Amino acid sequence: DAPETVTPTGAPTGAPKVSKSQQGEFLTTSQGARLRDTDHSLKAGPRGPVLLQDHHFREKITHFDHERIPERVVHARGAGAHGTFTGYGTASELTKAGFLAKGKETQVFVRFSTVLGSRGSADTVRDTRGFATKFYTDEGTFDLVGNNIPVFFIQDAIKFPDIVHAAKWHPDREIPQAQSAHDTFWDFVSLHTEAQHHTMWNMSDRGIPRSYRHMEGFGVHTFRLVNEAGETVLAKFHWKPKLGVHSLDWEEAQIAGGVDPDFHRRDLYDSIEAGAFPEWELGLQVFPDTEEETFAGIDLLDATKIVPEELAPVQPVGKLVLTGVPTNFHAEVEQVAFHLGHLPPGIDVTNDPLLQGRLFSYVDTQLSRLGGPNFMQIPINRPHAPVNDMLRDGLHQHAVHGGVAPYRPNSLDGGNPFTTDTGFLDVPVRVAESTKVRANPVSFDDHYTQVRQFWQSMTPVEKEHIVRAYTFELAKCYEQAIKERQVQCLANIDPVLCEQVATGLGLPAPEPTVPFETVEPSPALSQIGGEWPAD
Ligand code: HEM
Repeated sequence: DAPETVTPTGAPTGAPKVSKSQQGEFLTTSQGARLRDTDHSLKAGPRGPVLLQDHHFREKITHFDHERIPERVVHARGAGAHGTFTGYGTASELTKAGFLAKGKETQVFVRFSTVLGSRGSADTVRDTRGFATKFYTDEGTFDLVGNNIPVFFIQDAIKFPDIVHAAKWHPDREIPQAQSAHDTFWDFVSLHTEAQHHTMWNMSDRGIPRSYRHMEGFGVHTFRLVNEAGETVLAKFHWKPKLGVHSLDWEEAQIAGGVDPDFHRRDLYDSIEAGAFPEWELGLQVFPDTEEETFAGIDLLDATKIVPEELAPVQPVGKLVLTGVPTNFHAEVEQVAFHLGHLPPGIDVTNDPLLQGRLFSYVDTQLSRLGGPNFMQIPINRPHAPVNDMLRDGLHQHAVHGGVAPYRPNSLDGGNPFTTDTGFLDVPVRVAESTKVRANPVSFDDHYTQVRQFWQSMTPVEKEHIVRAYTFELAKCYEQAIKERQVQCLANIDPVLCEQVATGLGLPAPEPTVPFETVEPSPALSQIGGEWPAD
């Protein structure tokens, strides 16, 4: 049952790791038979033909032929690093999760990613970035699978294949739609207007981070925390980078991407190797766990909404430091499998319909991406807490399970009782008695107020960048009707924004079609912050 590598999840500061399949003095076959020659196939005479019986030739070629695994269906391009999370103890009244205790150190593996590009695409594109963290806690693994943008395109996971189809490659030419001809992306976001909020974050400077070290991270959904006394609160997770939030300007991104498509990946690994360890603080926005699951009128189950930090300040609960680069990219970055259902005692999910769908999707895709049901035994995915499950057999089973048939209670296997006191407890929240419907709550219907607030919170230079981005991207649509529909969405957000983009596209600026509420800016949304002059 021992893992393949001696230090499976990496000693934080890059201690040498030796694979069991690289030990021994001589080159061997996979069976340990010493080889004399690996450069010449076995032939019937020097001029051939090659003999089928050449096992070494066939083993070498066959294994090579199967070296690639499918890339992730989204977030295919990424980079990962090892590190340590240290709790501050400030969350102990809110959650019993042990890794947040004061001074408690937990090993972590973080994978940053773009969403849309393939595995070999460039780092500096305009896109959302993934920020997924695996905490190997003593109480079981906790995966915080977030993004660098605090809202999502859709409110219900059932639309996820649709938004991804609209934004990835054209089915006929396999040209990425969000990076070249843009019709389907803008068609989707102008028809599914809940996507307007996330889209404006993408059009802002947040869509092109300077480096991974300069990104915030967000759990996006609202989670439920439970403390030792069984009391609950609702909470959102935030990562705050020590270096502050910084972006590339569009031209900088084009040049950096052209000169070095691995710009962000290189920055991450170079900074770690230089000892300039990237750091983030983990923080929580905390809300009372009420039956309505709202805060200040904001529906906490709607993943297209934020709670402005002025209303619910982010309270620091711990620190993340990345100190180790992967030993092997495939073994660690490509094979890591995150899942929102990996939760330690003290953290639970809510009924957010986006979150609920994600709970199904990740393990489902990993079953095919990582070749069957035993990918949790891959070293990077193995919990650091002791595992004693009843999962058996299946493709690529590495464990040699002993004992009698696994079931509980079992009078023949000599024990292993459940832990009733410290184990994971689903918070016994009341589930409303209701009628089956395919519908959203009415509170999900406002698609514009928070987008307006984001726009209003930007400094003039940030606004200029947003206008430029909308104009540039929309200009690439072939269909006039799609441009016009998106410009109508901008009219529903803000007349100045709409007018400037419409002018750039040579279109008239329409009147809003939805009731228009003025909103207070939220300074925390601006990367530049502080005071800014009026328009
Ligand atoms: C992958 C974040 C919504 C399906 C990822 C990854 C991140 C992420 C960070 C990359 C994980 C890695 O590095 O391996 C998010 C966030 C979401 C969201 C923050 C919304 C708040 C969804 C939804 C679905 C979905 C709604 C489907 C219903 C997937 C799938 C993968 C993925 C299938 C690939 C996983 C793998 O191959 O291991 N997501 N996602 N995501 N996401 Fe999401």
